[in-house]
Amino acid sequence: MRLHRQRACKPLQQYTPALPRLVSLLEGIVMSDSYDLSAATASSASCAPRAADSALAVPPVARIGDTLAQIATPSLLLDLDAFDANVARMAGAAAARGVAVRPHAKAHKSVTIAREQIAAGAVGICCQKLTEAVPFANAGIGSIHISNEFVGEARVALAVALASRVALSVCVDDVRQVAPLGKAAQRAGVRIAVLPEVDVGQGRCGVDSTDKVARLVEAIDHYEGLRFGGIQAYHGSAQHIEAWARRRDTARLAADQAAVCVRFLEARGIVCPVVTGGGTGTAEFDIDSGVYTEIQPGSYVFFDGHYGALEWRDDWRFRHGLFLASTVMSTARAGIIVCDAGLKSVATDSGLPRFWSSQLAGTPRYRTASDEHGVLELGSPDDDGAAWLGEPILLVPGHCDPTVNLYDRYVAVRHGRVEDLWPIEARGLSQ
Ligand SMILES: Cc1ncc(COP(=O)(O)O)c(C=O)c1O
Repeated sequence: MRLHRQRACKPLQQYTPALPRLVSLLEGIVMSDSYDLSAATASSASCAPRAADSALAVPPVARIGDTLAQIATPSLLLDLDAFDANVARMAGAAAARGVAVRPHAKAHKSVTIAREQIAAGAVGICCQKLTEAVPFANAGIGSIHISNEFVGEARVALAVALASRVALSVCVDDVRQVAPLGKAAQRAGVRIAVLPEVDVGQGRCGVDSTDKVARLVEAIDHYEGLRFGGIQAYHGSAQHIEAWARRRDTARLAADQAAVCVRFLEARGIVCPVVTGGGTGTAEFDIDSGVYTEIQPGSYVFFDGHYGALEWRDDWRFRHGLFLASTVMSTARAGIIVCDAGLKSVATDSGLPRFWSSQLAGTPRYRTASDEHGVLELGSPDDDGAAWLGEPILLVPGHCDPTVNLYDRYVAVRHGRVEDLWPIEARGLSQ
């Protein structure tokens, strides 16, 4: 096989400070008699399992006290200083306007994070799916809003089971969703708050007229096990509008439509106790709208690469809190370096991860992701990139929700050291 180009060989240790460790590991393996190939081939008995050969354990991703360079990669890092600041900022801004925060747990799927948010003043959490809510209910989170529609006997049964543990609210946008839930709740002796979802511009779920909302409220009233809990008015695509002024105007239109609905109900003697909606992108406008009583931001705790690329007023720019710890594992070709974080480590639907930092100078650009490889472009096609081999790097994921869903735990770090490991209990619970 021909190599594409000749490279001068350096002693291994010159490539990276991490390599002496690797070299001594390799030396240990070579010296060990269990790797004596001649002995292994000479005796078939050596293939039989030995008593000491118990199953191999997968090493832990990190241990408390580890430095960043010691964390196994790829893994998901949570910068606790940024996380604390983000949680406090959202809680403080909403509290100052008298608006409740019910953070969306679809972003983080972690009981520990939900507890931190509630400790900072959140009234409970949102979940998008009923199964997603189960670990939170089991962990004692007392108030859960399912911000989504669901149908079918099994889902209804789970909703009722959840309602026997927590204060549960759910969304509907069709009277046919109401009846089965009402009957099941009544049979089980639980009470579920039901919020008609109003389409305020997203064009996805939610009813598109005040008459339909009124019909839903009437249907809800019919069942002792249900109560009208208010309305949900969430505009998903508004969250992601890049230009600040256009995002503000779209959020305003959504709030106006929600207000029309509230006034329509009030004119018929129906008090709307809650108007819930709003995510990270529109929270600053929603809390000033005078319409929303509650906001549902999720991504703000992490502020992913996509959110970071939007236009913000300075006091609303949150801090990047979520990172991928990765390692440069190959520098075989000039002009690029290859890291160990590809599609199985990071979602790319909202853009490729952004290079954040390493100890080395330079800002390579993450260019392509394949299953287990991430290719980063160096500043010059002639740069041999040799110094990067073994280098730990940090990347900011483009979209936090589906990235988090790829991991079992956060490696929670502060000042460059692992402080804790936080399980992602609701990972994969999407039914
Ligand atoms: C209904 C609902 N509310 C709130 C959010 C949270 O949005 P974000 O993560 O952008 O803050 C989402 C996200 O998709 C959502 O679907």
